[in-house]
Amino acid sequence: MKISLDQFTARRAQLLEKMPSGSIAIIPAATMKQRNSDVEYAFRQDSSFYYLTGFNEPDAVLLLMPGRLAGESVMFCRNRDKLMEIWNGYRAGPEGVVDRYGIDEAHPIEEIDDLLPALLNGMSRIYYAIGKNDEFDRQIQHWLGAIRAQARQGAVAPSELVVLDQLLNEMRLIKSDAEQDMMRAAGDISAQGHVKAMQCCKPGMMEYQLEAEILHHFAMNGCRQPAYSTIVGGGANACVLHYIENDQALQDGDLVLIDAGCELDHYAGDITRTFPVNGCFNPEQKAIYQLVLKAQKACIALAKPGVLWDDVHQESIKVLTQGLIDLGLLKGSLDEQIDAGGYRDFYMHRIGHWLGMDVHDVGDYKVDGEWRPLQPGMVMTVEPGIYIAIDNHSVDECWRGIGVRIEDDVLITDDGCEILTASVPKEVDEIEALMAAV
Ligand code: GLY
Ligand code: MN
Ligand code: MN
Repeated sequence: MKISLDQFTARRAQLLEKMPSGSIAIIPAATMKQRNSDVEYAFRQDSSFYYLTGFNEPDAVLLLMPGRLAGESVMFCRNRDKLMEIWNGYRAGPEGVVDRYGIDEAHPIEEIDDLLPALLNGMSRIYYAIGKNDEFDRQIQHWLGAIRAQARQGAVAPSELVVLDQLLNEMRLIKSDAEQDMMRAAGDISAQGHVKAMQCCKPGMMEYQLEAEILHHFAMNGCRQPAYSTIVGGGANACVLHYIENDQALQDGDLVLIDAGCELDHYAGDITRTFPVNGCFNPEQKAIYQLVLKAQKACIALAKPGVLWDDVHQESIKVLTQGLIDLGLLKGSLDEQIDAGGYRDFYMHRIGHWLGMDVHDVGDYKVDGEWRPLQPGMVMTVEPGIYIAIDNHSVDECWRGIGVRIEDDVLITDDGCEILTASVPKEVDEIEALMAAV
């Protein structure tokens, strides 16, 4: 499954449309990163660069210049190189970029220092991701310096540097039909990975073995990389929010929290499920689980166009706080506890985040100082949790070390929302039945 070429072309056209004449956008590709000795980390293209090109090679730069007669899109990329291609694989080269990626004009990346100052000369504004990459910031300064050095010959350097995010991130925040299909597929592959983990889980297994089961399912479905490091936390490890060691044995009687999502053609799934290692919740685990599930369902029921982003978070605070009071884990009234923030000992993160090409995707959460209303085409996670620290002596011992999070991916539709990750169970009886059936 891939996003089609005309989608990429349409995205460039849409961005060009928003740019005033006399401006240029400069978008660099990702570079290879060394892991050790002669080994590199798996290449992952920069999301914005891929969003605008579909081009999956390192060491490239895309330029967009509205109204340029010789062509509005220009790419610098690696030249074809027979020897390097024998070692490291195929390169499109400038010709391939024009022929197969619909770019108007392309040049070898080695020529960028010679050609870019001339393209910038006379432009008034540069859009780029200011401050995201020190090396690229320096390169921009270098190119501007090269133009200024030609001032007496009449060269004029752009005087405005503007963050590209304002234009591009708003586009990425609203998912097109093709992106929604991709995210549905990513959600489903991610969900089935979690089902496999539930089916194979047994006391005594290692956390990394559940991780392996999930990653195997992702890879078998064309997702060789997860969207983020997989979290498999047995028992109290679930209370460490970013636990990725995954090197402990799973104990009979404990819960295990798994936060894992695949990446499908650069789009992320992001799911958390928490289930009993031995297939049966004990009463305290069930009480906490049911409370988190109640909060998650209440938040999902709220997620529709016009509702403010923060309203969903406030709903989670309300439901979780009331539930913690009902269970005797917090004392006092709902209003007192919400004002005092008593829930923060148990629920220390927000309800979720935008989801897309990045797991924590781009897009502002506030606009002009106000929380932003949800709109059709946005995708967000809904992931409340309760984490009772092992050393929390303000609660009875039977509660300590329980950590539960339940996370789904939700697409805002015209009149509500669609859960993209619904194919992995989350009801207590469904989970217990699934685990008992193997
Ligand atoms: N898996 C990262 C997150 O849930 O935000
Ligand atoms: Mn998440
Ligand atoms: Mn997650």
